[in-house]
Amino acid sequence: MILPIYAYGSPVLRKKGADITRDYPNLQELINNMYETMYDSHGIGLAAPQVGLPIRLFIVDGSPIEDIEPAGFKQTFINPQIIEEWGEPWKYEEGCLSIPTIRENVSRKPELKIRYLDEHFQEHEKSFKGMAARIIQHEYDHIEGRLFIDLISPLKRNLLKGKLNNISMGKVDHDYKMRFPVKK
Ligand code: NI
Repeated sequence: MILPIYAYGSPVLRKKGADITRDYPNLQELINNMYETMYDSHGIGLAAPQVGLPIRLFIVDGSPIEDIEPAGFKQTFINPQIIEEWGEPWKYEEGCLSIPTIRENVSRKPELKIRYLDEHFQEHEKSFKGMAARIIQHEYDHIEGRLFIDLISPLKRNLLKGKLNNISMGKVDHDYKMRFPVKK
């Protein structure tokens, strides 16, 4: 089932996600729905707050990106904790399904180590770098209540104010199901 993606301005996008347990209601169905929603909107990552749930869960599928390491990078992250990030920060233009039409350069460290549970609640501790690390950092920010526009300069953010306001009111082009916090 395709779920509506909560737009910028929705309070849930600003909540720090809570850890979940194995008996979280309909967890497998939720994960399946999140993948379906991500593919429908042509995203490469989706975090639970973006479908209205303030919990520590996100999914990624970077396989559309050529040369990504690890190849076919696709994974479910439950209760993740980034343990360490390192290296010389690099910039790349990011976008977000909750903030359609806006893209900005975001500076992030190139490598990280993360501990997480997979969809079977098996624990992993892995290192990622480059684009895979960036996708994880972006989605991890979502479960911490952060958005990529928080990471750009105040000047740039100020210039986006009108656009962001319009997004929260649904005055934005989007070709996937969305839910807006403010009625038009
Ligand atoms: Ni996002």
